[in-house]
Amino acid sequence: MTNPTGLKLVERDASGVDTAFRADVLAGLAEAQKAIPARWFYDDAGSQLFEDITRLPEYYPTRAETEILRERADEFAELIGPGRAVVEFGSGSSVKTPLLLSAIKPSAYVPLDIAGDFLRASSAALAEKFPGLPVHPVEADFMRRVELPGEIADLPKLGFFPGSTIGNMVARTATDLLRSMRETLGVGALLLIGMDLIKDEAVLKAAYDDAAGVTAKFNLNLLHRINRELGGNIPVDAFAHEARWNDTYARIEMHLVAKSDVRFSVSGQSFAMAEGESIHTENSHKFTRRTAYTLLAAGGWEPRARWTDSEQRFSLLLAEARPPRSAP
Ligand code: TRP
Repeated sequence: MTNPTGLKLVERDASGVDTAFRADVLAGLAEAQKAIPARWFYDDAGSQLFEDITRLPEYYPTRAETEILRERADEFAELIGPGRAVVEFGSGSSVKTPLLLSAIKPSAYVPLDIAGDFLRASSAALAEKFPGLPVHPVEADFMRRVELPGEIADLPKLGFFPGSTIGNMVARTATDLLRSMRETLGVGALLLIGMDLIKDEAVLKAAYDDAAGVTAKFNLNLLHRINRELGGNIPVDAFAHEARWNDTYARIEMHLVAKSDVRFSVSGQSFAMAEGESIHTENSHKFTRRTAYTLLAAGGWEPRARWTDSEQRFSLLLAEARPPRSAP
């Protein structure tokens, strides 16, 4: 496995604590609006709970995007054409990735992921499903430009970024990522990207606050992880999961709200929260056709095609990395 970006590996101190996790949690809890980066959700329990979320009746994005990939295969084949190297940002899903690869007859598949274990497991499963398709996994942080394997240097590229993961970033970070993708893939590349759509607030909130309480469990698991890995004593029962619609930024926010005044410590540092105060743990931005196009354009990608599911809940967009131009 190559590591062309000089990726930072997990660093642990003498007592086995992940130092980046501790730094993020301590800094985030010290802020006026407490916040913890969403990447720390995904320990083993969190990853399993996230899998469960994608199957919830209220969580429509996975089903809606899969429907598009299933129903529009002919149009992808026509607009994208055969022979491209598909570069997936993330390890790939066992359902969505095969649907795309079957639709377009690619010449290679290159999954990029920071988590080497996931990457190896999903690459092996994929290679088995598509005998004859060269698979070149790259362990890398795709938030920066990635050096692609030499074997695909001369092939036309298609970036694939499903799941509306772009929506989990604020606009500035999302734009940086789109620009990095453009640098990674080069001028002339195409990008197929999923973006969830603005819709009825009740439908959106239910998708992030399901009746069975799985998303609540997923959110609260972060506190259990902090207690376990960072020597914390957060009273998890004193917190409630909340999904909020932020109308200014058109996003669902997940918060952990203190149900009473609480005091706790993490790694020897003390914190206090008043009843009603929250820790902000995730954003999921929602888009319209135009805000999606504007975000793509800001990142250097020109929209080429757009698909939605039969209920207009979710969009898949195809964009092209055009040469830079200064003309209006
Ligand atoms: N990107 C997807 C979304 O925002 C999946 C996702 C990321 C998610 N973090 C999440 C779903 C937290 C539920 C809760 O919907």
